[in-house]
Amino acid sequence: MKKVMAEQLRPGMITAEDVYTLSGQLLVSKRTVITDALIVLINAYSVFSVLICDSSDEDLSAPSQAPSADYSGKDIPGFVSNLPEEVRKIRIEKIETYKKDFAQGVNYFQVSLNNLISENTDLDVNTILDQTLALINSGNHDGNILEMLIYMKEFDDNIYAHSVNVSLLCNMLAHWLNYSEDDCRMAAACGLFHDLGMLAIPEEILKKNGPLTAQERETVNTHAQKGYHLLQNYQVDGDILQTALMHHEKCDGSGYPNGLKAGEINPFAKLVTICDVYNAMTSARPYRSALSPFAGIEQFESDRMRKYDTAAILRFLENTANTYLNCPVRLSNGMAGYVVYINPNHLGRPTVQCGSQFFDLSKQKELHVMELLPAL
Ligand SMILES: [Fe+2]
Ligand SMILES: [Fe+2]
Repeated sequence: MKKVMAEQLRPGMITAEDVYTLSGQLLVSKRTVITDALIVLINAYSVFSVLICDSSDEDLSAPSQAPSADYSGKDIPGFVSNLPEEVRKIRIEKIETYKKDFAQGVNYFQVSLNNLISENTDLDVNTILDQTLALINSGNHDGNILEMLIYMKEFDDNIYAHSVNVSLLCNMLAHWLNYSEDDCRMAAACGLFHDLGMLAIPEEILKKNGPLTAQERETVNTHAQKGYHLLQNYQVDGDILQTALMHHEKCDGSGYPNGLKAGEINPFAKLVTICDVYNAMTSARPYRSALSPFAGIEQFESDRMRKYDTAAILRFLENTANTYLNCPVRLSNGMAGYVVYINPNHLGRPTVQCGSQFFDLSKQKELHVMELLPAL
């Protein structure tokens, strides 16, 4: 690697180390391809020099994030794309493989649960869980579940897909929190079966094309106890049972069914609550469109933090926001660009570059990230 002065950076160079602002915030990740936009950004933050890969470095061919990729938002005015066709093809293949495996995994989960209910078969938690966890390596997408979620939108309004996604997110969050492998697996199991009680809720309520009435909402809320009672018929771990009952409890006592407070809620249920709310917010429903991950993060940040386990919610929001650094997004003003800076004080309000313009959303409150654009 070699040290290059900020003003001597050129597009195509690859960062050898993370680049930080003078105040210590991550600006550009290691192994990122330098673009004109990033050069402007690095200079805007008065970074003096950057460590760049040179020919003596190994594996120059695989930068972690390539912000100059070609995206499906290429019809959006001002959107520049230049991803080589071969790279694009490989990405599409990975996504298609994941989609296929995801559909199979969801179908397996659905059939298993339906057999459980209609034919009174036994509940084989481990086999069902193995099928779900296999998705982490499907499509060779480096286990980035958050990235793959962008492409699973057609499964949004499906309780089985929701359960599989929450399971994978819980597993990811448990790893972020440095849980043991056994506990990461348990977090995934708790996520997978958290909404089992939904199977006992009338379909016309679940499929209703509009907001629920107070009475319908009350009926839906009974899924927590219903799931708990259903699972009691099987030899499942106590954490899975308690999560089914407690995953709508909130640390400040505002949740249901029992208004429990932080110390009374099962630790795995607390993780599931975060992943459950996040997945619900960022998925479309018949009566509303999906929030972007940044808008979802902002909702958590605005007034909901005290409802969740502090360590878990902070790690979840911080890591999730940073996952989308360099991602292409569409702003509420219709412009498309890239997330170029995650503001640690306003994780849901990053800086977005559209062409030569920078939008610091922590200052421009009238704007927000409308949606992530698939990296295609
Ligand atoms: Fe639920
Ligand atoms: Fe849920």
